[in-house]
Amino acid sequence: MELKNIILEKEGNLAIVTINRPKALNALNSETLKDLDLVLENLESDKNIYCVVLTGAGEKAFVAGADISEMKDLSEEEGKEFGLLGNKVFRRLEKLDKPVIAAISGFALGGGCELAMACDIRIASERARFAQPEAGLGITPGFGGTQRLPRLVGEGKAKELIYTCAMIKADEALRIGLVNKVVPLESLMDEARAMANLIIANAPIAVKLCKDAINRGMQVDMDSAIVIEAEDFGKCFSTEDQKEGMTAFIEKRNKNFLNK
Ligand code: CAA
Repeated sequence: MELKNIILEKEGNLAIVTINRPKALNALNSETLKDLDLVLENLESDKNIYCVVLTGAGEKAFVAGADISEMKDLSEEEGKEFGLLGNKVFRRLEKLDKPVIAAISGFALGGGCELAMACDIRIASERARFAQPEAGLGITPGFGGTQRLPRLVGEGKAKELIYTCAMIKADEALRIGLVNKVVPLESLMDEARAMANLIIANAPIAVKLCKDAINRGMQVDMDSAIVIEAEDFGKCFSTEDQKEGMTAFIEKRNKNFLNK
């Protein structure tokens, strides 16, 4: 796999994905989006990886948005194509069958905030800044911001942020529920790894099914959602990990999940 703008590293059961275009503050051009698609294909088929941390190279930016120089001269049709490409890759990330933690050092703007929102969990450094600045550039958010931001922080707050293009600091992002945790910049990756290790310590198929039940259940009414939950709950009982987890509890010993 030849990647131009992304670094993929694997440490045991953890994958670290780093968007690496620091000279453009990790802005997402189509080349980088295609790299991310390749990385996701690799991670989907790697049964040894149980959790992913997604970050941006350097301390200044997570991702400063979609690449403005690439978008500047697009036609209506080309703009739609670019939006569809970003949305397709972000949806693949959102549906990846293992949790993804975004580790956000600095700017997460436009497509950068949208990328973070396609992850399961967001950890921000105290220096992180968030905005959807698109309306100030004459466009709408195009990689899921109009859809994921209201789902995460509520419709009123999302409309305020998108219409005003206001840039918010990490503590405000925490207050409104846009991020899960704020930590000092120096400990950002340690905190992300520590959370990933808590996830990795649990039964991988159960974690995967938890993600599936939450993701699919959030898109449907409650009566349909509890059917999805029951299906995923039932699937756990065909796994070795369910037998091991419950037997270990009954026998008052440490559990030893498969592949650990
Ligand atoms: N696209 C392309 N290049 C970008 C970029 C972007 N989104 N963001 C930063 N860069 C480039 C700059 O052009 C600059 O390149 P040069 O050195 O070649 O001039 C380099 O990164 C460093 O940036 P600045 O000199 O601007 O750094 P700064 O410290 O003065 O400002 C910043 C930092 C506030 C993040 C500023 O760069 C900025 O406002 N960037 C754009 C943010 C933005 O509007 N993002 C949304 C894009 S639209 C979008 O994402 C649509 C969508 O939903 C899909």
